Amino acid sequence: MTPPAAISDATSAPAGSRSASERAVTAFAPASVGNVAIGFDILGFSVDALGDRVTLRRIPERSVRIRAIRGVAGELPLDAERNTAGRALLAMQDALGLDFGFEMEIDKGIPLGSGLGGSAASAVAAVVAGNALLPQPCTKLELLKFAMQGEAVSSGSMHVDNISPSLFGGLVLTVGIEQPRVKQIPVPAGVRAIIVHPHMFLSTKAARAILKRTVDLSDFVWQTANLAGFISGCYTDDLDLIRESLQDVVIEPQREKLIPGCQDVRRRAIEAGALGCSISGAGPTMFAWATEDRAQAVRDAMREAFSRHATQVDDWIVEIRADRGARVIDA
Ligand code: HSE
Repeated sequence: MTPPAAISDATSAPAGSRSASERAVTAFAPASVGNVAIGFDILGFSVDALGDRVTLRRIPERSVRIRAIRGVAGELPLDAERNTAGRALLAMQDALGLDFGFEMEIDKGIPLGSGLGGSAASAVAAVVAGNALLPQPCTKLELLKFAMQGEAVSSGSMHVDNISPSLFGGLVLTVGIEQPRVKQIPVPAGVRAIIVHPHMFLSTKAARAILKRTVDLSDFVWQTANLAGFISGCYTDDLDLIRESLQDVVIEPQREKLIPGCQDVRRRAIEAGALGCSISGAGPTMFAWATEDRAQAVRDAMREAFSRHATQVDDWIVEIRADRGARVIDA
């Protein structure tokens, strides 16, 4: 699914002549790369090349009905309680005490179990469309909290590293769960993200279940230094510091066995000039950062490495843009 043009940086709908109860509103929410190697569950960036769309109408009953799920969906529940987008809207309905409900259609552009934040994007698109049908629009932080409830349905845990970048756009750090603080981090000009998605399904729940509950002190120090170095490098345009820091020494070593060719893909990307290469979210998609002049060579190297493990892939080279978060595209 190709991304629609941005309408504005606002998530709310342009004023229309029809009443909210008659109107259908469609919102788009981009895919995202969670963790970004060093920020497990707290750092992510949006990938506007693909995303999910949600179309909503208000209904008089106080419920959430899912009328259709289309696209690269696989088996997704039509029961709102068990669906990420449905759960997010129910959270909105409860928190605001709405006396009406929503009928929803979901168009999935993000493959399920790809590590590209598909469940987050559906939840985000749902709350952004829902927001446009409210008498009083919510703030983005409120929408974030509703969408987080949806994400928890699919991954089994409340994490924000896909929700925040999908909603806000760009490279986004989120501190806190109850009262999340969101910071869009600048990405040095000329840096591109290379995303390579092998055609296999990996369950986020399963990829979280294998993680150890404890971390070695030396790995903790190393990972903390890498996160601090990476963020500092982004703020100061220091590509050498980013290259030095963009390495996950805690989570990736535990997950790489789930992805055929993971080590090869990373090694080949680095040899081709990448600033860093790691697993996107829980995988199996992998991402790299590279300067614009190296991006295609890095992409080719990653593709080639995956193909040695008999894996078909899709790929994208994208600019990470803070102005390309979720938005209403039709109202
Ligand atoms: N931070 C999450 C994880 C992202 O790595 O499990 C999952 O989409």
